[in-house]
Amino acid sequence: MKELSGEVFYPSKEVLKNSRVKDWDKLNDFASKDLEGFWDKEAKELKWFSKWDKVLDDSFKPFYKWFTGGKTNIAYNCLDVHLKSQRKNKVALIWEGEKGENRVFSYFALHREVSKFANVLKSLGVVKGDRVTLYLGRVPELLIAMLACARIGAVHSVVYGGFSVEALHERLEDSHSKVLVTADGAFQRGKIVPLKAIADEALQRAASVESVLVIKRTGEPVNMEYGRDIWYHELVSLPIINSKNEAEQVDAEHPLFLLYTSGTTGKPKAILHTHGGYMVQTYSTFKYVFDIQDEDRYWCAADPGWVTGHSYIVYGPLLNGATQLMYEGAPNYPFPNRWWQLVEKYGVTILYTAPTAIRGLMRFGDAWPNRHDLSSLRLLGSVGEPINPEAWKWYYNVIGKGRCPIMDTWWQTETGAFMITPTPVVPLKPGSGTRPFFGIKMDVLDEDGKPVADNEEGYLVVKTPWPSMMRTIYNSPESYVEKYWKKYGGMYLTGDSARRDEDGYFWIIGRTDDVLKVSGYRLGTAEIESALVSHHLVAEAAAIGLPHEVKGNAIYTYVILKAGVEKSEALREELIMHVGHEVGPIARPENVEFVDSLPKTRSGKIMRRLLKAKALGQDPGNISTLED
Ligand code: WTA
Repeated sequence: MKELSGEVFYPSKEVLKNSRVKDWDKLNDFASKDLEGFWDKEAKELKWFSKWDKVLDDSFKPFYKWFTGGKTNIAYNCLDVHLKSQRKNKVALIWEGEKGENRVFSYFALHREVSKFANVLKSLGVVKGDRVTLYLGRVPELLIAMLACARIGAVHSVVYGGFSVEALHERLEDSHSKVLVTADGAFQRGKIVPLKAIADEALQRAASVESVLVIKRTGEPVNMEYGRDIWYHELVSLPIINSKNEAEQVDAEHPLFLLYTSGTTGKPKAILHTHGGYMVQTYSTFKYVFDIQDEDRYWCAADPGWVTGHSYIVYGPLLNGATQLMYEGAPNYPFPNRWWQLVEKYGVTILYTAPTAIRGLMRFGDAWPNRHDLSSLRLLGSVGEPINPEAWKWYYNVIGKGRCPIMDTWWQTETGAFMITPTPVVPLKPGSGTRPFFGIKMDVLDEDGKPVADNEEGYLVVKTPWPSMMRTIYNSPESYVEKYWKKYGGMYLTGDSARRDEDGYFWIIGRTDDVLKVSGYRLGTAEIESALVSHHLVAEAAAIGLPHEVKGNAIYTYVILKAGVEKSEALREELIMHVGHEVGPIARPENVEFVDSLPKTRSGKIMRRLLKAKALGQDPGNISTLED
């Protein structure tokens, strides 16, 4: 193996011996020389009702199509395919609730539950192409409902259970959803999040929703509107609902889901993914990167409400016939050993989580993980933001006991699946996701589109299309072109800045736009600002992110009150809570500072860069565009 620069962790003999792909370079060479050949080969491992004519169709750049002419169904590949194999009675999902209760589903059982759910949706008039919004906590029904939508060719739009009224309303309205699936509540740190009450308030503002399907989780009484709201358990137990449901045979390019995510300006945008290409790349990346084996017990601790959960709780693992754990609660509730207890109890072999969680747990010290047997672990994963070397080493040494390679996976809602990531045999450098996955071509460019020199910072781009790429922004194809493809004519702009070292390893620096990663969650400054100005006493607002030890970024806001309004501590508190009510608790600012003016450009744009420099006591840099 070639000597690499800097601090490097080489794979052990055991990892090299047991890995599916021992010669990374060889497979990488093949994929980079014959991109379509590589993806063609991967796609053939899945079930298609009819084969594609073309792997990649680039006749309408940047609206690329993959596996055109092919017919498939991702949910069929997640479930039905396994029923015809040894995996029929294999455990697909072990779910544990916050209070410790558990539910276990074999592939056979999951298939039955999904088929019934699909029939329930059909009984409500949901047909192929209809949008269904899912607003739930981390319960099996979320995964079941997603697969049920996919099965009948409906398009799911999952809204994270930590979002609140306005965030849900916007997403319901933009997607024009026919049905909303929610629950009587969700447990979180011993408290109940009143999902149904929040949904009721959002529904007052959204007209398209015809039916609301309510899942019983907490048993708390909720308002049920006659003619609109139906209990799932009542409907599913009617004699007309059985578990026979033929999966819809859809085109490879048939829409699978919308997932709203924050961008630079305005409201969150719906990223659209489709059945075929998304299926192939989530399947393939999960297989190679986690090197999944039938005896593995995989656990992704993310929430299915974010893309990580879509691709690596629902689709990737089930396409591979894996056994996985899903846990409802928070990492440190009731005690900071909750996760380690779960690893020990279920013999988890692969743990995939975010740097913010690692940093949060690291704070409690080594004694908590050390009181548990973590020897089942063989592989670790990280996602969502750059992992600082200190957290990487703690994860590697204290959790992985120096035996488990860490797969630091860089990707986005837009990319659908891993883009920069090692596989277990790749030498690791703490803080780098190493190199692009097989068949993925990336670069770091300067302002004029020229590749920067080694170790210099620039814009991270993807040079060639990939199967799980977003297909468009729903309702806004022009902003898809404008936002992602315009700057470098034909290359995909990620929105991240990065550098590449002399070994070709990529190091992510951060976002180049106004997207914030707060505890791994993706939020836009625009969303927080618009929540603040929706308060009747606020005239203008600006939000910025400042570095935070655990969260990565913390939200700070600056508010100009309307003329004559008194500044007070009570109002400050009220505004923080208001953002929580509109967007969700995750968006609550750390602080609200009342100011009399905000720095703006002559064209009226808030210069957040200056606010940030001031807050950090740094030199503001170029201020020639400042209005005042
Ligand atoms: C950041 C999450 C460094 C990045 C899957 C990206 C990362 C944004 C990593 C997308 C990583 C994700 N190292 N940064 N391993 N993974 N990011 O859409 O800034 O929620 O652009 O998708 O997260 O966030 P999103």
